[in-house]
Amino acid sequence: MSRARARLVALAESMDSAQLQRAAQPLGPPLWDLGHVAHFAQLWLLVKLGGEPVLDADGARRYDPERYPRDRREAVLEPLEKVLGDLHAVERAATQFLLERADERHPLLVDGWVCRMVASHEEQHTETLLQFAQRAGLTVDLGGRRPPVVAKGLDEAERVEIAPCITSIGLERRGGYDNESPEHGVALDAYAIDRWPVSNGRLIEFVEAGGYRRRELWSTAGWEWNRARALAAPRDWRPDAGGRWWRRHFGVWVPVDEHEPAQLLSLHEAEAIASFAGARLPSEWEWEHAAKLGLLQLAEGGVWEWTSTDFAPYPEFEPWPYPEYSATHFGRGYRVLRGAAWTVGPCLVRPTYRNWDLPARDHLFAGLRLCRGGQG
Ligand code: AVJ
Ligand code: FE
Repeated sequence: MSRARARLVALAESMDSAQLQRAAQPLGPPLWDLGHVAHFAQLWLLVKLGGEPVLDADGARRYDPERYPRDRREAVLEPLEKVLGDLHAVERAATQFLLERADERHPLLVDGWVCRMVASHEEQHTETLLQFAQRAGLTVDLGGRRPPVVAKGLDEAERVEIAPCITSIGLERRGGYDNESPEHGVALDAYAIDRWPVSNGRLIEFVEAGGYRRRELWSTAGWEWNRARALAAPRDWRPDAGGRWWRRHFGVWVPVDEHEPAQLLSLHEAEAIASFAGARLPSEWEWEHAAKLGLLQLAEGGVWEWTSTDFAPYPEFEPWPYPEYSATHFGRGYRVLRGAAWTVGPCLVRPTYRNWDLPARDHLFAGLRLCRGGQG
């Protein structure tokens, strides 16, 4: 079994079947994600390569994310045992097919590309299960994953100055996902970027300075979102009688660690926090340039970091291998996040990887990094 699959199944098995069938908005029931992963693996490791399917034919409809958006998935759930059996059956059939019968010259198999895509897909949905567990307040087996620590004993305000330049952004085609290609040049003005993401310590300063009540720190859309939510602190944060902050971490209330990067923030909060610090979010190019120079420090995995860039195609983008991965999401109000959170597996960790989500989402293990100067 691939390591990505093993981690997904171990996490699912640490949740009971009643929990797996619940939805926690905006996330649908995680049991659906598991069935979807089985059918996705069958499609790409068997059907597209000329192998025979082994799962029920209605699964292609049932587990199509476009046909069943997250709020409609409870209607098409199957029993946990059935879904785990399907995952196992696909694993067995695909392994045998790839070892014995697949044509290794198939374009999808060059350098094992499609195998990495399926493993990446499993890591992405593993993260969805973790987002669900955090949002629903469930204790789960984190498999040794723990939030990273920022700058203990170091200068967390340390920043690096970048000179104006033309930098190379992205990867050669088929080096990763289609949206990371082609590699192309981007001109950057001078800017300064923090070495560390914003810590919970700085988020506490923002909260205690009344950041959630100060209109001038928020964008128009951000202020609407903040007012509708009507909280004066991040979701799942509470002060105790002594004024000390606690946060709910997978169902357990823990003291807020000032040295951890802030996470579970929406883009709106990230922008307000940057504005409070007299700074701004980096563009995704500013982030990638500094990351490729090895200047962005993180201990053992980090957090996703919101950027100032809308999710859009690079010049001469070509969809591969299916338009629903990236192309159908361009120009729909998604923002790019960069980095990699402590919750994800190794397939998704590289300086060119582009994650995306909507500005109002506050269930991602996402924070921010401060940037100054330049073009924004
Ligand atoms: C890249 C995380 C935005 O979850 O919507 C999973 C990944 N694509 N299955 C998502 C994905 C298809 C995607 N993100
Ligand atoms: Fe998927």
